[in-house]
Amino acid sequence: MTKRQHFGWFLSRGFGPHGWGHPYLDWDYRWQEPKLYQQAIRELEQAGLDLVIIEDALSLGNPQTLDLRVRGAYGGPKHDPLSLTPFLFAATEHIGIVPTVNPLQFPPYQAARQFASLQHLSSGRLGLNVVTDVGASRHFGVPDVAHDVAYDRAEEWLGGVEDLWRTWRPGAYVGDRSTGVFADGSHLDAIEHRGEHYSFDGPLNALPFEDDLGGEPIVISPGSSPRGLAFTGRHSAVQLALAPLDLDSLQAYRTRVLSAAEAVGRTVPPKILFVFKPVIVPSSHEADRLVHASGEPDDAILRTVALGWSSDLETDLTSLDLDRPVDPGIFGDHVSRGSLNALLGGVPDFGAATLRELLAPKARLGRITDGTGVVGTAEEVADYIERAGEEADNDGFIFSGDLHPATIHRNLDELVPILRRRGLLRRSYAGGGLRGNLQDD
Ligand SMILES: Cc1cc2nc3c(=O)[nH]c(=O)nc-3n(C[C@H](O)[C@H](O)[C@H](O)COP(=O)(O)O)c2cc1C
Repeated sequence: MTKRQHFGWFLSRGFGPHGWGHPYLDWDYRWQEPKLYQQAIRELEQAGLDLVIIEDALSLGNPQTLDLRVRGAYGGPKHDPLSLTPFLFAATEHIGIVPTVNPLQFPPYQAARQFASLQHLSSGRLGLNVVTDVGASRHFGVPDVAHDVAYDRAEEWLGGVEDLWRTWRPGAYVGDRSTGVFADGSHLDAIEHRGEHYSFDGPLNALPFEDDLGGEPIVISPGSSPRGLAFTGRHSAVQLALAPLDLDSLQAYRTRVLSAAEAVGRTVPPKILFVFKPVIVPSSHEADRLVHASGEPDDAILRTVALGWSSDLETDLTSLDLDRPVDPGIFGDHVSRGSLNALLGGVPDFGAATLRELLAPKARLGRITDGTGVVGTAEEVADYIERAGEEADNDGFIFSGDLHPATIHRNLDELVPILRRRGLLRRSYAGGGLRGNLQDD
C-alpha cells in the first residue's frame, strides 16, 4: 500500500551569493534581500512540503581553512538563519521553517523568548535544527568543549528553554474581558535553574503555546553518533538523516534512531527524513549517458570535490596528495562523525584508501533504478520514493540545495505532479502548524 511521505527542503550550500559558480547567477537576484528566498519558498509551499530547514555555519572557519570557506562562497558569507526566518514566514501560510540553532549562540532565556515569539508570529510553524558544532566557540568567548560535552550542554540548554516555555502554568493565562484580568501571576513559575553550564531564573516573558496552533516549536537534529542519537531519542520530532540511500541502509539507519527513542520510552517515535539530492533527467537514455560519463573523474573534478568536502569538514583536503592515504590526525574533534563516515563511505578506515579512492565515488554518479545512485527520470525517482515507503517503512525525504527558484524548478517541476498522482505527496495542508504537517500521514 502506498505510504504517504513527508518532504522537506534543506537550504544547504550557498544561501549567500546565490548562484555563485552556476549559470543561474545571471538571474540577477540580490541574495542579501528577501525577495529571492520568498519567491522560492512560495514554490515549496505550493509543492506541499512539510518544512524547510535552514543550514548554518556560524563561523567562516579557522585561520588555516578560511580561504576554503570563502573562495567559492561555499561556507559563507550568509545570513543568520533566525533572522531570515520571519521573512519566510511572512511569505507563506502553512510550511514549517526550521532555522539551525547552536546553543553556543544564545543563553536559554533569550533563546526561549525569541523562539516563543517566532512560534506565535508564525501560527506554530517554527522548528529548531539543534546542532552542537563547537568550531565557533571562540567567536562567542566560550571555552571549547569535547563532542559529547557539547551534547550534554545542548541538553541542559534545551531543557532550560522548555522549562521556561512551561513557566506559564495552566490557569496563568485568563483573558477574561468581563473582569479585565489578562493573566494570573500566581500561576507563573519563577524557576531557578542552577546547572552545570547555565544559570538563570524564570518566568518567561512570553505567552504559552496553544495546542491547536502547533504547541511548542519542534526540535530537529542531524547528529548520528551514539551521543547524537541519544539526543534525538529524547528530544527530536525529526531526525535529519544522512545515509547511503539503498533500502538496506535506510532500514539500518531507521533501526538505530528508533532504538534510541525506544530506549527512553518514547511513545511517538521521531520521523526520520533522509537527505536526498536526486539528479532528474528527461529520459533513461540520458540518465545512462550521464552515469557512464562520470565513471572516470579527472584530477580537476576531484579537486572540486575535495574543496566541497574541505569546507564541510573544516579540514583542508585540497593540498593533499590524491594518491596517498589520508592521515586521520588532520581531523579535529569538532568534525562530525557522521561526515567522516560519509567521507569514508564504507572503507573501514583512513589508512585503507588513497584520497583519490575516497573522492572518486563522490564524483561518480549512479542510477536510481539499480540502487547505485540518484540519477533518473522523475518517474524513476518517484518509483524509488514509493518503494522506500513500502519496503523500508520510510517516513520521507529532505531535498537539498540552495533556495534559488531555478534550483527548485529543476528538482521539483516533473516530480511533484507524479508524487501527487501516486498519493505520496499532500495536495493540501491539514493545519496545526509544523507539528500538524508532520502528523498528517
Ligand atoms: C544532514 C546534516 C546536516 C547538518 N547541518 C548542520 C548545520 O546546518 N550546522 C552545523 O553547525 N552543523 C550541522 N551538522 C553537523 C552536526 O550537527 C554536528 O556536528 C553534530 O551535532 C555532531 O554530529 P554527530 O553526532 O554525528 O557527531 C549537520 C550534520 C548532518 C549529518
